[in-house]
Amino acid sequence: MLDIRFEKREKLKEKPDQKNLPFGKYMTDYMYICDWSKEEGWHDARIVPEGPIPMEPSCMTLHYAQETFEGLKAYRRADGKIQLFRPEMNAKRMQNSNARLCMPEFPVEDFVNAVKTLVKTEEDWVPSEPDTSLYIRPFCFATEASLGVHMASAYKFVIICCPVGAYYASGLDPVKILVEDELVRAVRGGTGFTKCGGNYAASILGQVKAEKLGYEQVLWLDGETRTYVEEVGSMNIMFKIDGEIWTAPIEGTVLPGVTRDSMIHLLRDWGYKVREEHLAIKDLMEAGHNGKLEEVFGTGTAAVISPVGELRYKDDVIQINDMKTGELTQKLYDTLTGIQWGKLEDKYNWTLPVED
Ligand SMILES: Cc1ncc(COP(=O)(O)O)c(C=O)c1O
Repeated sequence: MLDIRFEKREKLKEKPDQKNLPFGKYMTDYMYICDWSKEEGWHDARIVPEGPIPMEPSCMTLHYAQETFEGLKAYRRADGKIQLFRPEMNAKRMQNSNARLCMPEFPVEDFVNAVKTLVKTEEDWVPSEPDTSLYIRPFCFATEASLGVHMASAYKFVIICCPVGAYYASGLDPVKILVEDELVRAVRGGTGFTKCGGNYAASILGQVKAEKLGYEQVLWLDGETRTYVEEVGSMNIMFKIDGEIWTAPIEGTVLPGVTRDSMIHLLRDWGYKVREEHLAIKDLMEAGHNGKLEEVFGTGTAAVISPVGELRYKDDVIQINDMKTGELTQKLYDTLTGIQWGKLEDKYNWTLPVED
């Protein structure tokens, strides 16, 4: 495993008010950096003061977008200890992203050790107010300064963190989602299963369109036929239809969410039939009209679970569960957050303390 050296900051930053933590705004005092070169592979792992990273204007990432990232959280338990949630899944997902983008894979054990060491260094930044956490953003990018599309000769792997507040200020709040029937997010053979910046750049136009129509998020359909539901901008999505749970299969176009996988475990343990199958948008809207669509919810690290109260596809609009959070949605939220914050027993061994 890589040794991590430490470079002390002269003056620590002032910490923001824990009761008012907007997402992604206040970075902590330190960041983790590791370099990769053809000659040395991954080397010089270090925790250094958080701040600008110098870059040439010809840095390949700025032109050809060889960039991948991850998102996970550290949670403070009631006894003050800090824990992570399934970080090795993020590490493996980043390896898959990097492999697709022809970027060197960062070893899983070094990823987990880097996250643990940085969070331990920044333990005073892990908030303790209810539903707050420390958001952790690992990312990897090409640093070679040269034009021309090719695999770069140098990369950096970096981790930054920021304390974040409760996603919903006052309990779960159902969102309105627009089904995008023109633009697409991913096609088979493309990069849909990776967490690369380019996927998100291409999705912003859909998000802007949705917001103009008064919708908060976009539900993407499959890129080839625009027939089947896939996922939301930064969440996977699940539908409870006639007592069964439907969600898009992981076949290369949808991001394999850590929250999605955890929810599927819980649901199957509770006796639900979970169908990881293609679901046509027209069948979904029909289920909405004939009363069979009982609950809809997005799943992702940021919000854990996001109830969906309204779906619009072209001119057709359905409301789900009278725009209220469903019983199963609430139970999934309570159970998963209970495990993440250490209030419920973790029988799946999903949590990892930052201190051994
Ligand atoms: C496109 C997309 N789908 C799904 C997810 C949910 O993944 P996870 O549960 O690992 O946060 C995310 C968030 O990372 C995402 O950006």
